Amino acid sequence: MSDLDLDALLSDEGKHVIACCGSGGVGKTTTAAALALRAAERHGRRTVVLTIDPAHRLAQSLGMEALDNTPRPVKGLEDGSLDAMMLDMKRTFDDVVASHTTKDRAAEIFANPFYQAVSSTFSGTQEYMAMEKLGQLQASGRWDLIVLDTPPSRSALDFLDAPARLARFLDGRIIRLLSASTPGSRRSMLSLMGASAAVFTRVFNKILGGHLLTDVAEFTASLEDTFGGFRKRAEATFRALQDDQTSFLVVATPEPAAINEAVYFSRRLTEERMPLDGMILNRLTPVRASLPAERALGAAAALEEDDPENPVAAALRTHADLARRRTAEQRVAARYGAACPNIPQVWLPTLGSEVVDLEGLRSFGATASGAANTR
Ligand SMILES: Nc1ncnc2c1ncn2[C@@H]1O[C@H](COP(=O)(O)OP(=O)(O)O)[C@@H](O)[C@H]1O
Ligand SMILES: [Mg+2]
Repeated sequence: MSDLDLDALLSDEGKHVIACCGSGGVGKTTTAAALALRAAERHGRRTVVLTIDPAHRLAQSLGMEALDNTPRPVKGLEDGSLDAMMLDMKRTFDDVVASHTTKDRAAEIFANPFYQAVSSTFSGTQEYMAMEKLGQLQASGRWDLIVLDTPPSRSALDFLDAPARLARFLDGRIIRLLSASTPGSRRSMLSLMGASAAVFTRVFNKILGGHLLTDVAEFTASLEDTFGGFRKRAEATFRALQDDQTSFLVVATPEPAAINEAVYFSRRLTEERMPLDGMILNRLTPVRASLPAERALGAAAALEEDDPENPVAAALRTHADLARRRTAEQRVAARYGAACPNIPQVWLPTLGSEVVDLEGLRSFGATASGAANTR
């Protein structure tokens, strides 16, 4: 395994998008914000970070309290320029509709219960809208670097798969089938379509009830004359992610589920020829000395022979606990290196406190860049 050089990545003028992916709770949002801050402050790149569901205090310190779906400058920087925003999925969808049709038509679509369901609760909408927003940010040309956080999906793969799934759905084939058929034949058709159809049916029945068929038919008609081609748009975004101006970073914690997820995702990116530049292993147990656990325990036992309450012995035992935990984590993490031997890695301990302000993001960024001791 080689080391991931984050500063080289952040300062690379050929990179314009960095996407932080991984399963839920591993530190994607924190990583995205910290890397964006470092790119702006240390490398002078005009940067924007697109966050998704950031923790409240982090949002506050990045000045993202106003949920207006546009990037705002972050205050309190040491240097450079950083904008931050959090994704408002429904507003992004509304903007897509509004920008492709007349005011009246847009108003009709917005009032349609089927549209309301899809735009606010449909599985995959958040992933799709993150890609839409990324496209908009790129098209504006205002930034050198866009750092993308990804949705807190069950699986990191959703980020790649959900937009196409939603686009296929919205592109009408399934909707047309559904709206053309009677309830009886609809059921048999759904059973033919398998698992994804089951998800659709659940959403339909729960949210839409009896109005389903007319709403869907109207909605599809509106979409088709105004901007058919959701699928085309999703495909274009997908292709854009294959460009080597993009960089994917997989974030994981040293737990079996997160590591497995990181392996699946990395393999998939490689298969899809998407530029995977590194893996960030976050939240390792911090160990302050390289003393192996067995030796620490031996020394503690020796000290306790003279004084069972010896405070140094107690500290040695605490160290031994942490060192053992760390060893177990390293064993779990080694599975990633074995499965994906060519992906550079960086390992990051759990920091002393949660990362909720600019200072916390700076130290996260410095530690991740291996620069913590050389500042
Ligand atoms: N290395 C770290 N040290 C301390 N706290 C961390 C670290 N990485 C993440 N956290 C904390 O863990 C929580 C989850 O991180 P977050 O970035 O929101 O994860 P995700 O976006 O993947 O769900 C946050 O409260 C964050 O401050
Ligand atoms: Mg998050």
